Amino acid sequence: MKHHVKLRKSVRKQLQKGNVEGTLIQSQPIWVRIFHWGFAFSLTLVILSGLQLHKPASFLALNFSKVLTIHLISCWFALGFLGIRIADALIRKDDSLIPKLQDLKHFPQLMAYYFFLRSSPPPGRKYNSGQLIIYTSWFVLFLVATLLGLASYWEGEHLIWVWRLVGGFQVIRWVKFIVSIYFLATIPVHIYLSITEDISRLQAMVTGYERKPTPNNR
Ligand code: HEM
Repeated sequence: MKHHVKLRKSVRKQLQKGNVEGTLIQSQPIWVRIFHWGFAFSLTLVILSGLQLHKPASFLALNFSKVLTIHLISCWFALGFLGIRIADALIRKDDSLIPKLQDLKHFPQLMAYYFFLRSSPPPGRKYNSGQLIIYTSWFVLFLVATLLGLASYWEGEHLIWVWRLVGGFQVIRWVKFIVSIYFLATIPVHIYLSITEDISRLQAMVTGYERKPTPNNR
């Protein structure tokens, strides 16, 4: 018990020390945070309901048309949140999500760092080359899946060229399934890296602010 009290005191001390040191700087604007958590939540629903539609888990005994409704609603939400982020990037003239050649040049060094062959990551902008590659691939694949989804949503009414281009329902199902698997494989990498590398980045994605050491005392 005594030990327990001691521990709590020292934790509190550390926290207070942390409060005095460092400065809070804004690193994630409100619309980026709204997009991030909104998109993360709706995309999770899109993928889970999509898998359920693809191959219903009989032990869940869910009603097909209800799952389809959830799938369609969360797709519209995900698309809406993405629209918010695009508008936000245009208004703020923010190019932090656009990969530049200079970013991609650092990719081998970044991998060397992740595989413990280098002691520090290469210099980068807001997001490193690995993040930029993952985010861009998500953006492209999400739009591909959206286009295919809308082609079946508006079956025979609009986007008939998409239908003709890919060659029918089975191909659409297959492509959307592969895209879901890609998301399922890369989202855990994103979560793992965002909570291990620098936890204050997560703090910024929740509160908007990130704690940086004060330049003059470090
Ligand atoms: C529990 C789950 C998640 C956590 C903890 C998380 C955490 C984070 C953090 C900390 C960042 C900022 C990275 C940095 O500052 O270096 C970030 C950015 C980002 N995350 Fe996540 N994330 C999660 C789920 C997702 C999901 C499911 C998606 C969508 C597939 C996603 C898409 C993105 C995107 C696109 C960005 C860039 C944000 C922008 O500038 O617009 N995240 N995430």
